[in-house]
Amino acid sequence: MRPIIFTALLALPVLPALIACTDPAGEMQVMPTRADGAAFFAQNCVSCHGEDGRGAGIDSRKLSSKPVDLTTLSAQNDGAFPAARTLSYIYGDTRNSHLSRVMPEFGPDMAEDLVPVEIDGVLTPTPRELAGLLVYMESIQE
Ligand code: HEC
Repeated sequence: MRPIIFTALLALPVLPALIACTDPAGEMQVMPTRADGAAFFAQNCVSCHGEDGRGAGIDSRKLSSKPVDLTTLSAQNDGAFPAARTLSYIYGDTRNSHLSRVMPEFGPDMAEDLVPVEIDGVLTPTPRELAGLLVYMESIQE
Protein backbone atom coordinates (compact mmCIF):
# COMPACT_ATOMS: atom_id res chain seq x y z
CA MET A 1 0.00 0.00 0.00
CA ARG A 2 2.57 2.56 1.07
CA PRO A 3 4.49 2.90 -2.23
CA ILE A 4 1.23 3.47 -4.13
CA ILE A 5 0.14 6.34 -1.85
CA PHE A 6 3.59 7.90 -2.16
CA THR A 7 3.46 7.83 -5.97
CA ALA A 8 0.01 9.42 -6.03
CA LEU A 9 1.18 12.29 -3.83
CA LEU A 10 4.22 12.90 -6.00
CA ALA A 11 2.06 13.16 -9.11
CA LEU A 12 -0.20 15.83 -7.64
CA PRO A 13 1.92 18.98 -8.08
CA VAL A 14 2.66 18.00 -11.69
CA LEU A 15 -1.00 18.14 -12.70
CA PRO A 16 -1.52 21.95 -12.68
CA ALA A 17 1.72 22.39 -14.62
CA LEU A 18 0.50 20.00 -17.31
CA ILE A 19 -2.83 21.82 -17.58
CA ALA A 20 -1.06 25.19 -17.90
CA CYS A 21 1.15 23.90 -20.72
CA THR A 22 -1.70 22.55 -22.79
CA ASP A 23 -4.03 25.53 -22.33
CA PRO A 24 -4.10 27.36 -25.67
CA ALA A 25 -5.43 30.57 -24.09
CA GLY A 26 -2.48 30.59 -21.70
CA GLU A 27 -0.09 30.36 -24.62
CA MET A 28 -1.57 33.47 -26.31
CA GLN A 29 -0.82 35.61 -23.26
CA VAL A 30 2.98 35.22 -23.45
CA MET A 31 4.01 38.86 -23.85
CA PRO A 32 6.69 39.94 -26.33
CA THR A 33 9.97 41.04 -24.75
CA ARG A 34 12.53 43.76 -25.47
CA ALA A 35 14.49 41.14 -27.45
CA ASP A 36 11.47 40.48 -29.71
CA GLY A 37 11.14 44.22 -30.29
CA ALA A 38 14.86 44.58 -30.98
CA ALA A 39 14.70 41.78 -33.57
CA PHE A 40 11.72 43.37 -35.34
CA PHE A 41 13.51 46.72 -35.26
CA ALA A 42 16.69 45.23 -36.73
CA GLN A 43 14.73 43.71 -39.62
CA ASN A 44 12.37 46.58 -40.42
CA CYS A 45 13.65 49.90 -39.14
CA VAL A 46 17.47 49.95 -39.05
CA SER A 47 17.87 50.67 -42.79
CA CYS A 48 16.44 54.15 -42.23
CA HIS A 49 16.66 54.88 -38.50
CA GLY A 50 20.10 53.27 -37.98
CA GLU A 51 21.22 50.58 -35.55
CA ASP A 52 21.17 53.03 -32.65
CA GLY A 53 17.82 54.51 -33.74
CA ARG A 54 19.30 57.98 -34.21
CA GLY A 55 18.32 58.33 -37.85
CA ALA A 56 21.53 57.62 -39.78
CA GLY A 57 20.53 54.34 -41.44
CA ILE A 58 22.12 53.31 -44.71
CA ASP A 59 19.03 54.37 -46.73
CA SER A 60 18.47 57.65 -44.87
CA ARG A 61 20.53 59.71 -47.35
CA LYS A 62 18.24 58.74 -50.24
CA LEU A 63 15.09 59.93 -48.50
CA SER A 64 13.41 63.27 -49.06
CA SER A 65 12.81 63.69 -45.32
CA LYS A 66 15.16 62.65 -42.54
CA PRO A 67 14.22 59.69 -40.33
CA VAL A 68 13.39 60.84 -36.80
CA ASP A 69 15.93 60.29 -33.98
CA LEU A 70 14.01 57.62 -32.07
CA THR A 71 16.03 58.04 -28.86
CA THR A 72 14.58 61.52 -28.20
CA LEU A 73 10.84 60.76 -28.42
CA SER A 74 10.40 61.03 -24.63
CA ALA A 75 12.67 64.07 -24.29
CA GLN A 76 10.52 65.89 -26.85
CA ASN A 77 7.35 64.95 -24.98
CA ASP A 78 8.14 66.35 -21.51
CA GLY A 79 9.91 63.13 -20.49
CA ALA A 80 6.96 60.79 -21.07
CA PHE A 81 7.18 58.19 -23.83
CA PRO A 82 4.43 59.09 -26.37
CA ALA A 83 3.22 55.49 -26.77
CA ALA A 84 -0.13 56.07 -28.47
CA ARG A 85 1.18 58.53 -31.07
CA THR A 86 4.29 56.45 -31.78
CA LEU A 87 2.46 53.17 -32.21
CA SER A 88 -0.22 54.62 -34.44
CA TYR A 89 2.41 56.29 -36.64
CA ILE A 90 4.26 52.99 -37.11
CA TYR A 91 1.02 51.09 -37.71
CA GLY A 92 -0.19 53.71 -40.18
CA ASP A 93 -3.70 54.60 -41.21
CA THR A 94 -4.89 51.70 -43.30
CA ARG A 95 -7.99 53.56 -44.52
CA ASN A 96 -6.06 56.54 -45.75
CA SER A 97 -2.66 56.33 -47.41
CA HIS A 98 -0.34 59.18 -46.52
CA LEU A 99 1.17 60.42 -49.74
CA SER A 100 3.21 63.06 -47.90
CA ARG A 101 4.76 60.48 -45.62
CA VAL A 102 8.12 58.87 -46.41
CA MET A 103 8.06 56.09 -43.83
CA PRO A 104 6.12 52.96 -44.83
CA GLU A 105 3.04 51.81 -42.90
CA PHE A 106 3.63 48.54 -41.06
CA GLY A 107 0.03 47.78 -40.04
CA PRO A 108 -0.90 45.76 -43.15
CA ASP A 109 1.98 43.32 -42.57
CA MET A 110 1.39 42.82 -38.87
CA ALA A 111 0.00 39.56 -37.51
CA GLU A 112 -3.54 39.46 -36.21
CA ASP A 113 -2.15 38.15 -32.94
CA LEU A 114 -3.23 40.81 -30.43
CA VAL A 115 -1.88 41.15 -26.89
CA PRO A 116 -3.19 43.48 -24.15
CA VAL A 117 -0.91 46.48 -23.65
CA GLU A 118 -1.48 49.40 -21.29
CA ILE A 119 -1.44 52.55 -23.40
CA ASP A 120 -2.30 55.85 -21.69
CA GLY A 121 -3.71 53.85 -18.77
CA VAL A 122 -6.06 51.75 -20.92
CA LEU A 123 -5.51 48.05 -21.71
CA THR A 124 -5.48 48.08 -25.50
CA PRO A 125 -5.42 45.04 -27.83
CA THR A 126 -2.19 45.62 -29.75
CA PRO A 127 -0.47 43.63 -32.55
CA ARG A 128 2.28 41.50 -31.03
CA GLU A 129 5.02 43.17 -33.12
CA LEU A 130 3.98 46.64 -31.96
CA ALA A 131 3.90 45.52 -28.33
CA GLY A 132 7.50 44.26 -28.63
CA LEU A 133 8.56 47.46 -30.41
CA LEU A 134 7.05 49.51 -27.59
CA VAL A 135 9.21 47.76 -24.97
CA TYR A 136 12.29 48.16 -27.16
CA MET A 137 11.72 51.79 -28.11
CA GLU A 138 11.03 52.84 -24.52
CA SER A 139 14.32 51.20 -23.53
CA ILE A 140 16.40 53.28 -25.99
CA GLN A 141 15.13 56.68 -24.80
CA GLU A 142 17.89 59.02 -23.62
C1 HEC B 1 12.05 53.93 -45.53
C2 HEC B 1 12.66 54.46 -44.34
C3 HEC B 1 12.01 54.18 -42.99
C4 HEC B 1 11.75 52.96 -42.40
C5 HEC B 1 11.99 51.57 -42.98
C6 HEC B 1 11.19 53.23 -41.10
N1 HEC B 1 11.10 54.59 -40.90
FE1 HEC B 1 10.37 55.52 -39.25
N2 HEC B 1 10.53 57.33 -40.18
C7 HEC B 1 11.12 57.54 -41.42
C8 HEC B 1 11.02 58.94 -41.77
C9 HEC B 1 11.56 59.58 -43.05
C10 HEC B 1 10.35 59.59 -40.71
C11 HEC B 1 9.96 61.08 -40.63
C12 HEC B 1 8.49 61.27 -40.95
C13 HEC B 1 8.12 60.83 -42.35
O1 HEC B 1 8.53 61.45 -43.33
O2 HEC B 1 7.45 59.80 -42.50
C14 HEC B 1 10.06 58.52 -39.71
C15 HEC B 1 9.41 58.74 -38.51
C16 HEC B 1 9.26 57.79 -37.51
C17 HEC B 1 8.67 58.03 -36.22
C18 HEC B 1 8.22 59.39 -35.70
C19 HEC B 1 6.76 59.56 -35.49
C20 HEC B 1 6.50 60.87 -34.80
O3 HEC B 1 5.75 60.85 -33.86
O4 HEC B 1 7.09 61.90 -35.20
C21 HEC B 1 8.72 56.86 -35.53
C22 HEC B 1 8.25 56.59 -34.11
C23 HEC B 1 9.31 55.87 -36.41
N3 HEC B 1 9.62 56.47 -37.61
C24 HEC B 1 9.53 54.55 -36.08
C25 HEC B 1 9.90 53.55 -36.99
C26 HEC B 1 9.94 52.14 -36.69
C27 HEC B 1 9.69 51.54 -35.31
C28 HEC B 1 10.25 51.50 -37.84
C29 HEC B 1 10.34 50.01 -38.10
C30 HEC B 1 9.14 49.24 -37.75
C31 HEC B 1 10.45 52.52 -38.87
N4 HEC B 1 10.22 53.74 -38.31
C32 HEC B 1 10.82 52.26 -40.18
C33 HEC B 1 11.69 56.58 -42.23
C34 HEC B 1 11.58 55.19 -42.03
